[in-house]
Amino acid sequence: MGASGDAGALPRNGDLRQRALAVLERNHRDGHTVPAQELYPFQWCWDSGPIALGWAAVGRWDTAWTELERLFSAQWTSGMVPHIVFWQEDDGYFPGPEIWATGRNPPTTGLTQPPLPVSAAARLFAGDPDRDRALSSFRSLWPHLVAWLSWIERARQGPHGASVIVHPWESGMDNSPSWDQSLSVVPEMSNEHIERRDVATVSADQRPSSREYRQYLGIVEVLRTAGWNTERQPADSPFAVEDPGFTAITARAAADLAAVATAAGVDGRASTRLAESLGTGLHALWDDDMGWYRPYDVLAKCAVGPATSTGLVALWAGVPVARVHRMLARVDSWRTTLPAAIPTSQPDDPSFDPIRYWRGPVWVLINWLVADGLARAGFTDRASALRTATRTLVARSFSEYYDPRNAAGIGGQGFSWSAALTLAWLTEA
Ligand code: DGY
Repeated sequence: MGASGDAGALPRNGDLRQRALAVLERNHRDGHTVPAQELYPFQWCWDSGPIALGWAAVGRWDTAWTELERLFSAQWTSGMVPHIVFWQEDDGYFPGPEIWATGRNPPTTGLTQPPLPVSAAARLFAGDPDRDRALSSFRSLWPHLVAWLSWIERARQGPHGASVIVHPWESGMDNSPSWDQSLSVVPEMSNEHIERRDVATVSADQRPSSREYRQYLGIVEVLRTAGWNTERQPADSPFAVEDPGFTAITARAAADLAAVATAAGVDGRASTRLAESLGTGLHALWDDDMGWYRPYDVLAKCAVGPATSTGLVALWAGVPVARVHRMLARVDSWRTTLPAAIPTSQPDDPSFDPIRYWRGPVWVLINWLVADGLARAGFTDRASALRTATRTLVARSFSEYYDPRNAAGIGGQGFSWSAALTLAWLTEA
């Protein structure tokens, strides 16, 4: 579908692209792009994937490759890629390097995030018109990509064969209602050690609660005290949950590597095997009564939470058609009352909140993952409708997220992946 054929009320393609590129340029630092000035002033792991695709979409291939190279230069020897790399000092963010105390140089956190940068690397390889650069950049990233995925396979395999997260921050969907039950038993850090900076930039009612922050920091404290041993975090952490979204993104990352391995002259057999085994793990998280993929709390030994975005992201990995239909039927029922696609949590659940971060608002990234999965599964009309709906959102603002009742842009503004996906998905050059 040509973007220029979209609804007449939208700005012209070129204007939207220019504004999106301006956001990326403003957020670009020395070799990496921060998700949003002030609110997130460092390099964030899963953001780097779509951000690299945004740079590539405007022909800035060197910048795109460098974004990923910088991230992987902070990889731990275990293969874990940290969720934040603190490239420079900045008092504007809490919790900073002194709280994490991982002893790394550059300073990093001791948690990971869904490996979207792996899929981004495969896309850069496939799309870069300079084949020499594509080959040499991809081949030098290859051992890092494989090491990350094999660490996830080795150190994060749950009882169903799905991937385990040890902190809600690892899902990328921090305060999703999916984690409420599992979080309820974790130790809380006392208020006096918490100096939240996020609420200086974004209204507190759009951010996680103080209690959630005490719990987030409580888990960090436990893992720090355990010595940041990335081989045994599910045993060390008071929070250990098989996450369908993380699993789906890892499965697709492995499949994406396998798909380009021959052309890159590397051995993709381990990636093929991993994609299959994670696919089996994801399959096991399907709740047939609910018609949705649900997290499984490894410590409490039960499935948890209402229908949320982490289950929906299974579509990105590819799921059986009958399940696509069931999930779409549910999403459609949400949209009769909430027109802006797609709320990140089940609106008729008491946990729903239309403006609070991952408890309801619409996210461009989720829409992209879902639309891509739908297109691959042959639901091209649905994918294209979601693209059009998402374009309407970014035409108003490049926000971190959007209120599903009225499409108002909320959370951080000038948000990098909303701009990057405008370039890579919602418009054409
Ligand atoms: C934050 O600080 O809100 C981030 O999501 C943590 O990764």
